Amino acid sequence: MRKFLMTTAAMALALGVSQGAARAAENVEVLHWWTSGGEAAALDVLKKDLESKGITWTDMPVAGGGGTEAMTVLRARVTAGNAPTAVQMLGFDILDWAKEGALGNLDEIAAKEGWDKVIPGALQQFSKYDGHWIAAPVNVHSTNWLWINKAALDKAGGKEPQSWDELIAMLDNFKAQGITPIAAGGQPWQDATLFDAVVLSLGDDFYKKAFIDLDSATLGSDKMKEAFDRMTKLRSYVDDNFSGRDWNLASAMVIEGKAGVQFMGDWAKGEFIKAGKTPGTDFVCMRFPGTQGAVTFNSDQFAMFKVSADKVPAQLQMASAIENPTFQSAFNVVKGSAPARTDVPNDAFDACGKKAMADLADADKNGRLFGSMAHGHANPAAVKNAIYDVVTRQFNGELSSEDAVKELVSAVEGAK
Ligand code: GAL
Repeated sequence: MRKFLMTTAAMALALGVSQGAARAAENVEVLHWWTSGGEAAALDVLKKDLESKGITWTDMPVAGGGGTEAMTVLRARVTAGNAPTAVQMLGFDILDWAKEGALGNLDEIAAKEGWDKVIPGALQQFSKYDGHWIAAPVNVHSTNWLWINKAALDKAGGKEPQSWDELIAMLDNFKAQGITPIAAGGQPWQDATLFDAVVLSLGDDFYKKAFIDLDSATLGSDKMKEAFDRMTKLRSYVDDNFSGRDWNLASAMVIEGKAGVQFMGDWAKGEFIKAGKTPGTDFVCMRFPGTQGAVTFNSDQFAMFKVSADKVPAQLQMASAIENPTFQSAFNVVKGSAPARTDVPNDAFDACGKKAMADLADADKNGRLFGSMAHGHANPAAVKNAIYDVVTRQFNGELSSEDAVKELVSAVEGAK
């Protein structure tokens, strides 16, 4: 009897422990900045997918497009010894955390599922550190897009602008129609997103030398002055209330016909879709004039942090769920992005999604795929933030183009 009692107690203890372990194993805590309507709808696809596999979701949203605020909160969490299971992250930030030894290891699952063969090299350079998988890429976005209100474009003659001059003519027409020509959000990362496209429109080589190679002569060139002059010109088409406006509210201005065009990455499409709008009918997607065929990309990845052993199984299941081809299609259709795998069929995607996938493949094949400066795929955060600062001050009229060029050279030198 005594023996039986002890056994029961031991069993209860064992059961308690295993239940606790099971609970931890079935939960993921996810830090992200997907808080707009379209972003939240996409995130929901992931949440539901995991829930269908018995994994519960602890949400840790940190609002702020581009993720600057999320990265600050993350730093505080990790410093406090309390890292989340998975964190939405961009490019060089992933490598920075890997260098600090803060990330886990996904090699086993990546090998079992053959990720090496289906995830393009451009993404793998950020999903792997020292040869080990540390993050699961969920999508590929790109920043050199225009989102145009179709009715406004029709009134302007219906032709998609193919050059800088045609773009300016379209903006003038929007002005004459009595709408705000450009729906802009005056936040540094949004100014920088526009700058990605403007710099690329002056040539692939120019973009590469300036932002990938950080070549001082290019950063300080007359062509860079021209890029800033173009920013000044575009600035003259925004409304008085643009300062500090969230990007999704700028998208809403185009959706509602209050503005003609937004220059933004294809997460903007998520907002149009969420509002029930159709490409070709309600809005038009096209590449920034002068950048056709080239792509400045950024990929959202879930960086997997070192967590206690009981939490690793759910973490690995989350990574596996993210790379599942069916999930990749379902998620990216809603998010506005292209899949992170090259073997996902494009059938479920709308015209803009199909174009995103085709452009990406072509740009990669033709050597015209470049990491986005604005979204952390060209440089580590220190350099990115130094560029943000100059671009924003110039866009807000605090610096002339000449001075911005000089400041850009010294800011980048100081941050390198
Ligand atoms: C980007 C991110 C996108 C989108 C956007 C605005 O950096 O890659 O997924 O969410 O920020 O929040």
